[in-house]
Amino acid sequence: MTSPTRTLPLSFRRFRRLRRSEALRALVRETRLSPGDFVYPLFVTHGHGVREEISSMPGQYHLSLDQLAREAEELRSLGIPAVLLFGLPAEKDEVGSEAYDRDGIVQRAVRVLKEESPGLVVFTDMCLCEYTWHGDCGLVTVSGEVDNDATLPLLARTAVSHVAAGADIVAPSDMMDGRVAAIRSALDDGGSGSTPIMAYAAKQASAFYGPFREAAESAPQFGDRRGYQMDAANSREAMREIEADIEEGADIVMVKPALPNLDLIARARERFDLPLAAYNVSGEYAMVKAAAAAGFLDERLVTLEILTAIKRAGADIIITYHAKEAARWLV
Ligand code: PBG
Repeated sequence: MTSPTRTLPLSFRRFRRLRRSEALRALVRETRLSPGDFVYPLFVTHGHGVREEISSMPGQYHLSLDQLAREAEELRSLGIPAVLLFGLPAEKDEVGSEAYDRDGIVQRAVRVLKEESPGLVVFTDMCLCEYTWHGDCGLVTVSGEVDNDATLPLLARTAVSHVAAGADIVAPSDMMDGRVAAIRSALDDGGSGSTPIMAYAAKQASAFYGPFREAAESAPQFGDRRGYQMDAANSREAMREIEADIEEGADIVMVKPALPNLDLIARARERFDLPLAAYNVSGEYAMVKAAAAAGFLDERLVTLEILTAIKRAGADIIITYHAKEAARWLV
């Protein structure tokens, strides 16, 4: 005998039963965001007492070395385990000398941070674009092309200098072919075989980097970066980029930007077993900030929704300028 209620569709209220209170919703929540998921990008600069807001990225600053102890303490108190360092050099030149100078701004910042806060994980971004006057991510030939192979030894030198300063993880963002292998062998030869590499593996030529280029003063002076960064239309190629970096020795792989690439994050998660990072980039941050400032969006809810979606898609590590605010909202 079927009871009369069985005549109702089986799905009757099926989904709503577990949504009746926040306690129930929390119990069955599949994705939990935590401050421990975040890596916070920092822009370090020469000078003293510098704490200058970046106009295109409200709430983000250029910081001089004396500001870093306070920053590290704040991150520690919020439960954010890691930073990713970008440097603004004293001078830019043709070959990006300060990128691999023993006393370059990033090398000095690493030493300060490791001294002040040994438990903080320090990732260093490695690229020539902030250090060259032309703003390209590699050396440029007389005909104006980026010279892939000539750039590799400079990236390797940069990695060795960052690790010598105490960097925990080096992160090449230049998109030259073969750079992970070049960096890996330079580190191994120099006795730094235990330092991991986080490769910006599927990094697209994206208009979402606009605010960062203002922040890092690294806009290309000629042309764009489409000759080496990925075409955002390509998904299979993104998987091949990630695969190549893994073969060359990457320990963590990254998809960047994050929000327009949730499909690539999900695909990479299914396909590869390495830790997967997603970079929630400057333009993604700036959009939220601008919309919130205009009163169009609830900043807290939107930010947490975005970061949760990036994690749900499959990212283990989220590099985000929202890290500090999100950590405060999560407690
Ligand atoms: C350097 C680099 C860029 C970003 C990270 N490393 C800019 C670019 O490639 O043009 C972008 C980060 C962001 O937008 O937040 N190559």
